[in-house]
Amino acid sequence: MADKFYITTPLYYVNASPHIGHSYTNIVADTLARYMRRNLGGENVWFLTGTDEHGQKIQKAADSAGLTPAAFADNMVIKFKKLWEDLGISYDDFIRTTEERHIKTVQRILEILYKRRDIYQDKYEGWYCTPCETFWPETQVSKQLCPDCKRPIEKISETNYFFKLSGYQEWLVKHIEGNPKFILPEIRRNEVLSFLKLNKLSDLCISRPKGRLSWGILLPFSPDHITYVWFDALINYISAVGEFDKEGRYNSRWWPADLHLIGKDILRQHAVYWPIILRALGIEPPKTILAHGWWMIDQEKMSKSLGNVVSPVEVAQKFGVEVYRYFLLRDVPFGLDGNFSEEAIVKRFNSDLANDLGNLVYRTLTMIEKYYHGIVPAQGKLDAQGNAISLKIKALPEEMRSAMDIPNFALALENTWVLINMANKYVEETKPWSLAKENRTEELKSFIRLLVDVNREVARQLYPFMPRTSECILEQIGNDSIKKGTPLFPRLPAGIDTGKPGK
Ligand code: ME8
Ligand code: MG
Repeated sequence: MADKFYITTPLYYVNASPHIGHSYTNIVADTLARYMRRNLGGENVWFLTGTDEHGQKIQKAADSAGLTPAAFADNMVIKFKKLWEDLGISYDDFIRTTEERHIKTVQRILEILYKRRDIYQDKYEGWYCTPCETFWPETQVSKQLCPDCKRPIEKISETNYFFKLSGYQEWLVKHIEGNPKFILPEIRRNEVLSFLKLNKLSDLCISRPKGRLSWGILLPFSPDHITYVWFDALINYISAVGEFDKEGRYNSRWWPADLHLIGKDILRQHAVYWPIILRALGIEPPKTILAHGWWMIDQEKMSKSLGNVVSPVEVAQKFGVEVYRYFLLRDVPFGLDGNFSEEAIVKRFNSDLANDLGNLVYRTLTMIEKYYHGIVPAQGKLDAQGNAISLKIKALPEEMRSAMDIPNFALALENTWVLINMANKYVEETKPWSLAKENRTEELKSFIRLLVDVNREVARQLYPFMPRTSECILEQIGNDSIKKGTPLFPRLPAGIDTGKPGK
């Protein structure tokens, strides 16, 4: 295992407020960061997130709000940071592409690559999608619509600067083939490989004429051009954590990144452009690019441009942050698309949280209060069922490790729930109230003590996923004497259809 872990999220565009999709990426990254901090020590983990603030999209959004792009971005950044705070996102650094440290690094990189002739000037004639800021080759365009967003595109002709992607295609294919964990999950790796095998890469246009777009980073070698927003934004992953020396060598405690977490919508930029930019600079590629699927609403990707977004602020307020985190991590197998619905949250809430976990914690606390005046009893001899549970407690950390390695959060949580359900079943079958009535004190003592051990192990394993719930369980039951508080998952507020009439 590596001795440090550097994890990044995409830098989100600040053209609109964050939606559930953005919150999902950051919750996943937070879960992995918390998990790795526990394995490696907090000082060896670096979790970077931030915002992508240049380019046409933001300029346009600012124009229609009657603000400068800078002021518009400032307002939006407040919303992103507030959301991350509300959701318990434990990032170590938040980078904005409008910060000096980033601009300086982008310009330095442009200079280096221009000097090495990996960036050159040329004339571009062809199709262009303004909202996507993407050039499209004739072969991919039909009916003058953008292949991506389906909006009308225009034919343009202008002088621009290009980055020599084409010179590195063979290297990239070899690198992907030689490193099975470079792009995950496998379905995405295959997608990139077959794209690279079927297409010859064209060089990437990395500038936009200033006359058309002024909101961005100026090319250091042309007063008339602004840096293309993707070339600008990708560089954040290194501008945030290191510097170039006089000789043009990059130094960083954190690089190479261990994990770039992204959605599958931006796979090409991360798995093709980015490693090639790094290669041209003589910098190691990231270890893993991990792409998750999309949250959908009625079979369509939730997206700002489609306008079908759900606000994570509202959902988290309605159901609670911990319930929201649990739902996102548990309900969809990582990597696949998932359909978002409140009914599905309610279902998870009722069965997994209130009924299974909440019940286990509550009944354990109640019994310690009732039978032992709030003092946790010592370990005693276990019966067969108790022994099976004890073995499961010991096996769980390893099961979690292998689930988190994939990563498969649903499986990790399922493993924990197997233990929770074993313990609940144990309570129902042991009938502690009759043990008490029959004065079988030794049996009662070891039975309850085992439940305490289950609660503690469950809390420990849940920490990366539901940090406050984990802390709350440990506060109540982590010490020799318990502190019974309010139930973990009280009934959902009125007005939410819980599917249980009369309750
Ligand atoms: O692409 N389901 O920013 P962006 C799941 N600025 N995740 C989703 C999602 C959905 N429906 N919609 C968005 C950009 N996401 C660039 C990135 S990186 C150097 C620059 C998440 O605001 C997912 O992580 O469009 C996706 O990759 C990202 O938000 C795109 O955010
Ligand atoms: Mg997008």
